[in-house]
Amino acid sequence: MSEEPIIAIVPAAGVGERARIAEDGDRPKQYRLLLGEPMLRHAVRALLADPRVTQVRVVVSGADTWVEDALEGLPRTVIRRCGGATRADTVANALRDAALDPRAWVMVHDAARPGLPAAQLADLIEACTAHDQAGLLAMPVADTVKRAGVNGEAVPVTGVVERAAVSGATVPLVRVAEPMQVAQTIERNGLWLAQTPQMARSGQLIDALARAQAGQWVVTDESQALELAGHPALLVRGSVRNSKVTWPEDFDLMEKWL
Ligand code: CTP
Ligand code: MG
Repeated sequence: MSEEPIIAIVPAAGVGERARIAEDGDRPKQYRLLLGEPMLRHAVRALLADPRVTQVRVVVSGADTWVEDALEGLPRTVIRRCGGATRADTVANALRDAALDPRAWVMVHDAARPGLPAAQLADLIEACTAHDQAGLLAMPVADTVKRAGVNGEAVPVTGVVERAAVSGATVPLVRVAEPMQVAQTIERNGLWLAQTPQMARSGQLIDALARAQAGQWVVTDESQALELAGHPALLVRGSVRNSKVTWPEDFDLMEKWL
């Protein structure tokens, strides 16, 4: 077992637009209660379950009023208020703020993945340290994959997002002007769905994110930035329990898994 310490970064500066329901008011999804505890607290505890994670740095926006209560009393946990406009900006700010040795291992884990099992966390740490290579948890795609199109043109999966009044609150709704149809079936063999944690050496990740920022490439996870910088990450099998809570209906399922 590797004894190198690992610093975990939990980006929690999002607003949870897609998960919002009327009762939430202005409470972002990471603070919604699951089995009586905020989702963020579950996610941090999942990381603390491994003693090799020596510190968890939770990164929120300057305006956050929820985080202190949500994390009260957790060991090895610090709160930093340097969230950015995008997830990648939040992570880049957090890495700069932490000022770690470039060789230090870091792992980035979404606040919205409270169900991370200890076994998969350990698998990731062991794969990365054994190969001295960055890595991420991911799931092989089980279903046949389709790209949507309208009249042969590819369209974004979510179509057009509009706002609508539901139970007294304004919530985002997905509306598509015309029925979507299959434009293309994509060979699922070899396709994986990226999860978190994603682990890398601190210096390598800072460099990769800086290059993505400089090139104005929109990267949606750390491993994409590493890939663009020529450092491919290892794929380590994750778990369905480690799914991201994104839509209102995901909370019930996650509560059953926790
Ligand atoms: N996140 C962040 N900083 C941002 C945007 C997102 O730290 N500027 C974090 C979220 O808090 C979450 C993780 O990145 O822990 C994954 O993002 P996502 O699930 O998309 O959360 P939100 O951006 O909050 O949700 P939505 O996209 O529905 O608004
Ligand atoms: Mg988001």
